[in-house]
Amino acid sequence: MDPTRLVAERRARVARAWGLDRGTVLVASGLPVPIAGTDQFHDFHAHAEFRYLAGIAEPASVLAFDPAEGWQLFVAFPTPDDRIWTGDGPDPAALAAASGLVPRPIEELEAWLEPRRAEPLALLGNHDLARRPGGYRLAGFHRLEVSPDEELSARLSWVISEQRRAKDPAELDAMRRAAAASRAGHLLALCTARPGQAERALQVELEAEFFRAGADRTAYGSIVGSGPNAAILHAAPTRRELRPGDLVLIDAGAEVDGYASDVTRTFPVGPRFEGFQRDLYALVLQTQRAAIEAARPGVEYRDLHLAACRRIAAGLVDLGILRGSPDDLVDCDAHALFFPHGLGHLLGLATHDAGGCLQGRTPSDRFGLKWLRADLPLQPGYVVTIEPGIYFIPAILRDPARRERYREAVNWDRVDSLLQLGGIRIEDDILVTEDAAEVLTADIPVGIEEIEALRAEAFAR
Ligand code: GLY
Ligand code: MN
Ligand code: MN
Repeated sequence: MDPTRLVAERRARVARAWGLDRGTVLVASGLPVPIAGTDQFHDFHAHAEFRYLAGIAEPASVLAFDPAEGWQLFVAFPTPDDRIWTGDGPDPAALAAASGLVPRPIEELEAWLEPRRAEPLALLGNHDLARRPGGYRLAGFHRLEVSPDEELSARLSWVISEQRRAKDPAELDAMRRAAAASRAGHLLALCTARPGQAERALQVELEAEFFRAGADRTAYGSIVGSGPNAAILHAAPTRRELRPGDLVLIDAGAEVDGYASDVTRTFPVGPRFEGFQRDLYALVLQTQRAAIEAARPGVEYRDLHLAACRRIAAGLVDLGILRGSPDDLVDCDAHALFFPHGLGHLLGLATHDAGGCLQGRTPSDRFGLKWLRADLPLQPGYVVTIEPGIYFIPAILRDPARRERYREAVNWDRVDSLLQLGGIRIEDDILVTEDAAEVLTADIPVGIEEIEALRAEAFAR
């Protein structure tokens, strides 16, 4: 594998798919975002379109394309003052090696644009280039008398999203390293979480292990929810202390070279799942395994989601929570009272990666489908998450209108006795191949027996 060649191939593939015979394209990496009221900045994230096509993640930089001349890379090298405060910046030779292009100072962009003023201009990447051109050491576009063509920009951007769906070997290599770092953190949490430990303290241990295992940062804000907090889909860790009898849900992923992993495990704080927790966990796990098994090229992700909904509905009928036929329950969104989110999403340079829905498909406004973030047929090379869950979410289950609408379909007495249970989600990252999907996060314990064995060991210590 030659990462530089792969980045050059991405550019060639995208340029072919654009099919431009004239025009100018600028792909901006983005400017550091100031923290209002301070002299500091938020952690910098290069725009995914720039990172994908340039193979680097420098701020205030622009990748430019013109069909006659091909690709040019303009980088903001440090000023003499920057050198005093933040050092000499990136080594131009390293940038050239990573991108396969000779980086030019960003100050040359204006002169490069000058003779192209009459051409249609597409602005991609971070649109702060139009709003804050000075940050790119560029006079305003009005001074150049050019104005970006929004329709062209949107079309070209969509083409990049489509190209980014199937991952190349360099991307998969980063995603495997991200998955390995996630494994280390989740395993540590599974083996060391203890009663009396705050969710926040568990987050600190988990993330420290991600970083020790090679993560550059976390791919998203880590979710650690214990007891009832496990029912908050994006729960920020709190000072709540883990208690015996609680479930703890950890949805956290390491990021490596810009690539995300996204993993959820749910385990008991005590050494064993308690009776009903165990039944629910087995149902979520069986639903997740079936979806992974069915994830093949050509399969519509929406159909995987709906099959998972039917399994969850059938399981909840068996467990005395829902009443009716699974098909009817899913048709009227009764399953979504307990599984309100989608089965998962594309994963890559973003946690909810671009291009998750085919062009022209928009999420349905049905309660059971509106949070489905992927709606397309799977293809080899796509990386998606598979993350069913069952939750007892008071914000849904205490809603009088829903209680009325689903009066017959739900055993409300039983539900009311479970409102403190929290929730269970199991999430893995899978690579779609011609054959069975490869689970990139496969070696993070997930079976009931292996989780209980690790928890029992943690308790014996
Ligand atoms: N961690 C956010 C998600 O699973 O989509
Ligand atoms: Mn997640
Ligand atoms: Mn996810």
